[in-house]
Amino acid sequence: MLVPRSTLALLTLPVTLALASQVPLRASCKPTTSRDYPWALFYPAVKWNSLHGAPRTEQGDPTVMNLASCSKAFLSASLGILMQDFADGENKTALPRNVEKFSWDTKMRDLLPDEWMTEDHWTTEKASLKDLLSHVTGFPAHDGSYSTYDSPQDIVARMRHLRAAYELRQLWEYTNQMYITGAYVVSKYSGSSYRDFLEERILLPLRMSSSTLYPDRAFESGKFTQSWTPSRRRIPFWMPEHTADLLAGAGGVMSNVEDMVNWVKMLLNSGVDPQTNKTIIPRTTFDLATSAISVAVHKGSALTSIMGYGLGWIRLAYRGHELVQHSGGAPGVATIVDPYPSDGFGVVLLANTVGPLVTQKIARAIADRMLGLPTEAPRVETEMGPHAQLEPRIPVNPIPPNILAGFTGTYSNLGYGNFTLCSPLFPNLGRLPGRHPRLQTSRFGDRKAHWSLGPLQRLAAVLGITSPAFSSIRTCLIFWTKSIRRSSWWRMER
Ligand SMILES: *[C@@H]1O[C@H](CO)[C@@H](O)[C@H](O)[C@H]1NC(C)=O
Ligand SMILES: *[C@@H]1O[C@H](CO)[C@@H](O)[C@H](O)[C@H]1NC(C)=O
Ligand SMILES: *[C@@H]1O[C@H](CO)[C@@H](O)[C@H](O)[C@H]1NC(C)=O
Repeated sequence: MLVPRSTLALLTLPVTLALASQVPLRASCKPTTSRDYPWALFYPAVKWNSLHGAPRTEQGDPTVMNLASCSKAFLSASLGILMQDFADGENKTALPRNVEKFSWDTKMRDLLPDEWMTEDHWTTEKASLKDLLSHVTGFPAHDGSYSTYDSPQDIVARMRHLRAAYELRQLWEYTNQMYITGAYVVSKYSGSSYRDFLEERILLPLRMSSSTLYPDRAFESGKFTQSWTPSRRRIPFWMPEHTADLLAGAGGVMSNVEDMVNWVKMLLNSGVDPQTNKTIIPRTTFDLATSAISVAVHKGSALTSIMGYGLGWIRLAYRGHELVQHSGGAPGVATIVDPYPSDGFGVVLLANTVGPLVTQKIARAIADRMLGLPTEAPRVETEMGPHAQLEPRIPVNPIPPNILAGFTGTYSNLGYGNFTLCSPLFPNLGRLPGRHPRLQTSRFGDRKAHWSLGPLQRLAAVLGITSPAFSSIRTCLIFWTKSIRRSSWWRMER
C-alpha cells in the first residue's frame, strides 16, 4: 500500500449498515442510568484475551483507549472556545492586523497569512475553518503524503502541492489534514499547544481525569489498553508519542467510558456541563458543530436518513430518532460516540481492535433497546468470536515476481515527497515463502517504516495482470489515489 498504514486507517467514514435479521444481541454491555438525568449510557468495552488494561469494576471500565476520529469533535469544541476567548477579550495572542473577528467564517488566508495556500486560487482566498472541518475544501484524503515525523506546520506548508478532487464547497470529502490544520490554528493563537489547550479547557473542567492527548501519559497510567487485530494478533499502538502532536486534531484523544460519560452528558445538555452549569462548548459553536453543514451521505435507507456533516459530528435520523454521532477507526482502535439528543441518551463504545461494522451494529442494537424497538442488528457475536478472520488474505497464487519488476524506481511528487520501490528484493519473492517484498519510501524509509507490497499484488490480481505488460506504473497509482479523480501527476525515474 502506498500510504503508511497508521494514517490510512484514520479515515473514518460513516458506515451504512445492511441490517437484516432480528436475532437478539448478546454483547458484553452494561447499562447505567443516572438518577439525575433522563438518559442512560451503555459502555461495552470489547476486549480480547490477555488484554493489558485496568480491571473492570462495578462502576464501569476504566480501561483507556484511543478515540481515533471521535477526537474530531474535541477540535471543533476547542476552536469554538478559542473564538469565544477572543470575543470576550480573554485572548492570549493577537490576531493578524487585518483580522477583525475570529469566527468560523474567518478566512484561512487571513488566519494563516503566508502559510495557507492551495493549488486553487478560489480555495486559497475563500476557505474558512467551517469549510475545513465540514470537509468541503474539495481535498480528498491525502494521508499518504505525510510522515509520522512531520509537524502540523509541515502539513499546511505542503497543502499547495496537493491536488483537490472538487472545487471548494462542491462536495463532501473526508480529509484528516484539515483537522491537523485546525489544531495548528489553535496552537498558533491560544498561546499553548493544542494538546495542552484541549486538556485544560475541556478535559479538566469535565473532570475527565483519565483522559489525555499524550500517549506516554496514557501508558504511564497503567490503564491504557494494548491493541489487537481482529484475529487477535497484538499490534503496536498506532500513534506513538512522536506523532501525537501531528495527529492530535484528527485522532489524538485517549479516554475511557467513565470519562466519556461526562463528555456525552455535556453534549446532551447543549454544551453545558450539567454538574457545574459551566459552559464547555460555546452555544454558537455547539449549534454549528452538531448541525448539517455538508451532505456526507446523499441517500437514506429503511433505517437511516441522509447524513449531514457538521464540525466533527455527523447528523442523521436513525429509525426516526435524531442522532448526532461519529465513529473512529485506526489499527487496533474502533470507537463510536452516539448521542441521541431528543431521546436524552448516548452510546459510547470503545474497542481495542478494528471493526467499525461490528461496533456500529452493537451501538445501534443498544439504541434499539433504549428506544424500545425490536432490534434490527444481525448476529454480531459470530463476527466477534474467536474465529474472526477479517484480515486480508494473501492470494493463494501469488503474482509472478517479474510483473512487479515494472514497479521499481523512484517516484517524486512535491506534495508526497519521493519514494523508491527497491528491485533487489523482487527476485527473492518466490523463494521466501511467507515473506513479501517491502515498499520503502525515501521520506519514511530512513525512519524504519516499511510497508508490505501485498496490496499491490492483490491489485494486480484484481486487474487481471498476468504479464509484465504494462509499461508505466500510472494505472496502478491512480487506482490507489482514485479519490483524487484527476490525471496522474507521478513521475517515474529509472
Ligand atoms: C487580543 O486580541 C486583540 C485583537 O486582535 C489584540 O488587540 C489584543 O492585544 C489581544 N490581547 C492580548 C492579551 O494579546
Ligand atoms: C444549574 O442551573 C439550574 C438552572 O438554572 C439550577 O436549577 C441548578 O441549581 C444549577 N446547578 C448548579 C450546580 O449550579
Ligand atoms: C526528490 O526527487 C527529486 C527528483 O529526483 C529531487 O530533485 C528532490 O531533491 C528529491 N527530494 C527529496 C526530499 O529527496
